[in-house]
Amino acid sequence: MSLIVRNLSIETGNYRIVKDAFLEVKKGERVAVVGESGSGKSLTALSVLKLLPENLHIAGEINVDGLNVLSLQGEELRKFRWEKVSMIFQDPSASLNPLMKIKEQIGEALLYHGKAEKGEIEEKVVELLKLAEVPEPEERMNTYPHHLSGGLKQRVAIAMALACNPDYILADEPTTALDVTVQSKILNLLKNLSVEKNTGILLITHDMGVVAEFSQRVFVMYAGYTVESGRTAEIFEKPLHPYTKGLIECSPVLKGGEKRKLFSIPGNIPEPSEEIAGCPFHPRCPEVKEICKKEVPPTVEVEGRRVRCFLYWD
Ligand SMILES: Nc1ncnc2c1ncn2[C@@H]1O[C@H](COP(=O)(O)OP(=O)(O)OP(=O)(O)O)[C@@H](O)[C@H]1O
Ligand SMILES: [Mg+2]
Repeated sequence: MSLIVRNLSIETGNYRIVKDAFLEVKKGERVAVVGESGSGKSLTALSVLKLLPENLHIAGEINVDGLNVLSLQGEELRKFRWEKVSMIFQDPSASLNPLMKIKEQIGEALLYHGKAEKGEIEEKVVELLKLAEVPEPEERMNTYPHHLSGGLKQRVAIAMALACNPDYILADEPTTALDVTVQSKILNLLKNLSVEKNTGILLITHDMGVVAEFSQRVFVMYAGYTVESGRTAEIFEKPLHPYTKGLIECSPVLKGGEKRKLFSIPGNIPEPSEEIAGCPFHPRCPEVKEICKKEVPPTVEVEGRRVRCFLYWD
C-alpha cells in the first residue's frame, strides 16, 4: 500500500515547472518533502488530489494503493479526495468556511460522505476534535473559525482532514504560520496520528529541523526535480547530492551538542521559465563538473538511496 508519484511533469504550455518529480509514501509512513521556495513542492502535492490550477498541464504517473489518480473523475474523484487522501494547508482558513460553525462544517463533510447519520453528528464531531486535541470540543464546535487562535484553527483543519479517515494526508507547510511552540505540538499531533491510525503523511517543509524531527524518509526537490531521496537518518548522516549537503549545512540543527553556523547556499533557485542547460543546480554547485553544464544527470541508486547527480554516475 503506497502513494507514488513517478516521472511527474507540470507545464504551462510555454515551459515546464515540475520536470521529473518522484515521491513515495507508504501507508503509515511519515515522509518529508523539502526544498527551497519555487522548487515545485506544492504543485506536486496538489497534483495528487487533481487540484492544479487550470492553466497547468500534467503528465506522469500518480498511483495511490493501485488507483490511477490522473484518470479519476466525478464521484470517484470526490470520494478519493476525502476518503483516500486529504490535505492540510499552511493557512488553515483555506480549508475552513468562515460563515459556518465548526460543527456544521465538519458535520456537512461527514453527512456528504455518508460517515455519520444526522443524529450522531455532534458525537462524531466531538470525537474528531478530540483526536485533533482541540480542548473543550463540546464548546468549541459551536463557534466560528475566527474565534479560534491560529493553532486551534489548524487543529480544526486537521480534524476536518481526518473526517473520512483517509489513508494518506498531505500537509503543505502546516506549521509555517504558527509560532514555534505551537509548531512542534502540531507536528507531534500529526506524528501520533500516523502511528495510531496508520496514516501515511507527506509533510512539505523548508525546514531541515522539521524534517529531522518528523520524517522517516525524505525527498529533496530542486527546480522541479527530485534530486535525492532516502531514509532521513541516512541523509543527515551522509547527504549525497551537493544541494542536500547545502541544505543541511544551512540548517541550524544541533549536531554533537553544538549549534552549527548558519549560512545559505550562494545564488538563487532559477525561475521555472529560465532555460538552464544541464543540471539546474550546476550554477550554484561547489562540485560542478563539465558534463553538469551540458546534460541533465540521470537518477542513480547508491546504497539504497536515489540521487540525481553526475558525482555518482559512471
Ligand atoms: N498556476 C501557475 N502558473 C504558472 N506558474 C505557477 C503557477 N503556480 C505556481 N507557479 C510557479 O511554479 C513554481 C513552483 O511553485 P510551487 O508553489 O509548487 O513551489 P513550492 O516549492 O511549493 O514553493 P514554496 O516553498 O514557496 O511554497 C513557482 O515558481 C511558482 O511561481
Ligand atoms: Mg509551496
